[in-house]
Formats: sequence, C-alpha cells, structure tokens
Amino acid sequence: MPGFELFGDLERKEVNDVLDNGVLMRYGFDGMRNGHWKSKELETALQDTFQANHVQLVSSGTAAVSVALASAGVGAGDEVIMPCFTFVASFEAIMMLGAIPVLVDIDDTLGLDPEAVKAAITPKTKAIMVVQMCGGMANMSALLAISKTNNLLLVEDACQAIGGTYNGKPLGSIGDLGCFSFDFVKTITCGEGGAVVTNNESYYTNADHYSDHGHDHVGNDRGAETHPFLGYNFRISELHAAVGLAQVKRLPEFIAVQKKNFNIIKEALSEIPEVTFRTVPEGGDESCAFLSFFLPDLEIANKVSSAFKENGVDACFHYFNNNWHYIRKWDHLKDMKSLFPISAEVKNGLKYLETKTFEKSDHYIARNISCLIKLSWTEEEVKARASKMVEVIKSCLS
Ligand SMILES: Cc1ncc(COP(=O)(O)O)c(C=O)c1O
Repeated sequence: MPGFELFGDLERKEVNDVLDNGVLMRYGFDGMRNGHWKSKELETALQDTFQANHVQLVSSGTAAVSVALASAGVGAGDEVIMPCFTFVASFEAIMMLGAIPVLVDIDDTLGLDPEAVKAAITPKTKAIMVVQMCGGMANMSALLAISKTNNLLLVEDACQAIGGTYNGKPLGSIGDLGCFSFDFVKTITCGEGGAVVTNNESYYTNADHYSDHGHDHVGNDRGAETHPFLGYNFRISELHAAVGLAQVKRLPEFIAVQKKNFNIIKEALSEIPEVTFRTVPEGGDESCAFLSFFLPDLEIANKVSSAFKENGVDACFHYFNNNWHYIRKWDHLKDMKSLFPISAEVKNGLKYLETKTFEKSDHYIARNISCLIKLSWTEEEVKARASKMVEVIKSCLS
C-alpha cells in the first residue's frame, strides 16, 4: 500500500502552506491561518472520493474505528463481531470502549464468513465489524442482509481497501460507518491519520465532537464552545492533513498503476494450476493493494514463503505465522495482558478465546500468501518479479 512510494513536490507545497502561517491545529486561529484549512479541505475531497455525505478526519485508523463505534453508541459490555484475520487495531479499538470483541471465522474472501457471523449473534451484539483485508472485500450483500434482519450496525474497517468498490460503491461507504487509515503504509498517507465516513448526520456530529474533547464546534471561540458530552482527543493535525490532501488528488493515478502491476503478476501466476486466488464477491472490484492467493497446503505455503525471501521476492506475507494479523499469535489478547485492570464484564466476555478454535480460517490462512503491490516498479521489474514468483512456486511444488 504505497502512498509513501510516490511522494514529492505536491506534498511539500501543501505542508509549506501550513508551515508558512504556523497554524498546525485544525480548529480555531482563524485570523492567523491565511485561509488554509487543510483538514476541512481533505474532508471535502474524501466525501467525493468515498461518495459519503460526511467525513470526520481523526489521528489514525485505530482512532477511526473507536470513534465510529462510539459515535453510534457502542460501549461497555456491548459485543462487536469481527474477523479473526485482521490487524490487532480492530480488537484494540473495540476494547478501548469497554466493549467485547467477538472473533469469528473468515471464508475464502479473506473477510467475515456470514454463517459464522449469524452463529455469533447474541442479545448483547451491537455491531458487525467487517474488515476489508488486503484490498479485497467480504461478502457484503450477505452481511448487509444479516445486519438488517438483526437490527445491528454494520461498521466497515476499510483501512486496507482504499480504492476498492462493491457494486460501484467505494468500500467503506457501504455500511453504517466506514473507517480508513492514512498511516505510512496505506494507499494514501498522511504520515499518521484516519477518517470516519458516514451518511448518518447524527453519527457524524457525534464523531466530530467526540474526537475533539466533546467540543460542539459552534462559533469561532473555542473557549466559549459547549461540551454536550464527554470526548477525547483524536484530532488530526494540519501538517498531516496537508500531506493527505496532496495524496488524495493522486489516488486515481495510484490505483491505476496498482491495478496494472497486480494484473501482470496475477496473469503470470494463473498459469500454475495449483494456485488459486482469493474470492472476490460478484460486483466487487479489489483495490489491488495486495495479490492474495492460496497454495495447496501449509507445508507448500511455508516453503514458498521462505523461498520468496531467499530469492528477493519481498513484501509477501504468510499471515499464518505473522504476529500481528491472525488470532494464532494473539496470546496477549487471549491471556488479557493489559497494563491496567480490565473490567469483569470484558474479562468474562473474552473467556470464549480459551477454547474457541478457528478451523475454517486456518484452512484459508495456512495456505494464503498476500503480496504487496508497489507503484514504483517499472514494467520490466514487475514482469521480472512475476517470472521469479512463478519459478519459485513451481520449484516448491515439484
Ligand atoms: C485493517 C486495519 N485496521 C486498522 C488499522 C489501524 O490503522 P492505524 O495504523 O492508522 O491506526 C490498520 C493498520 O494497519 C489495519 O490494517
């Protein structure tokens, strides 16, 4: 996810605008800022990009998930159903609110398995949080139907899927609330940053206030503003937003290059009958941030993963053995290792992790390799990489 790869004068110009007037904060200081409101400008640009009525910028993708859930009233003791394949941020953001992450299986989309979601619903369930992993998407029509039938919120963590679509709609704009990350390794970057997107005006107003200590943002005197409810500080700075503003203008160019490179490698790998690709639900169009494929079994996947490294095929992830993205290595969560006391309700709510197994997810993640698609490769480099990947996989299969 390569925003950081193509980085230069445009970003510098936007950042210099901010440095020139010295207002690094997104709110207030109207007289000093010489008309520069980078965060507001970026929010407007993102409304267009994500086809959503409202966008609230925040300090990170993790903050975006927490703010999104809080804005819709998710909190202490509520259960949020989420996949066991994601980044740790997903459960962190839920636990930050005193809510309980209920981890369930994924399917061959690498996203939430709708049947596992149905089986996990209890009277305490408040939300389903789908994570659009590696530029792809889960079976969104099934998940939308489940959330509707059961009157549950559908929150989309689209941090890894900027630029992907489903039935023509940007990923992140399909559920009640969508969350994005603009950290350093995402498709567009602010350095650090995130966004909550929604068409629901009251969720948006809540997100706007909650992410800035509860400030109601009425008038132009911060000290005189009221605080309708408690909030925290999840603000983005103008410097970060300035970088994002330059990046978002280049998103169509980034996605086009990403898709071109992805297709060259996918086509090459398609000639190996033992390689299959992650399922993309009908109507879906991946962002192509990663090429995700399956090998016949764990042993071969282990071999290919090592051989890729030995042969200089970098940035290919075998998540089965990864500490950050799959339940298998999340002992700190299973053992509830927290710096501060966790509530009895959450402790109790997480007990299921002592015994729950994830065979269906193991079946997919053990055999999956996801390769990052970079933008800075020349066409020759992509082709050479594709040939090398084919050669390595074939030798591991023989
Ligand atoms: C799926 C997913 N959700 C949330 C996050 C958190 O984003 P951030 O690093 O901006 O907090 C990430 C970051 O990698 C992610 O991959």
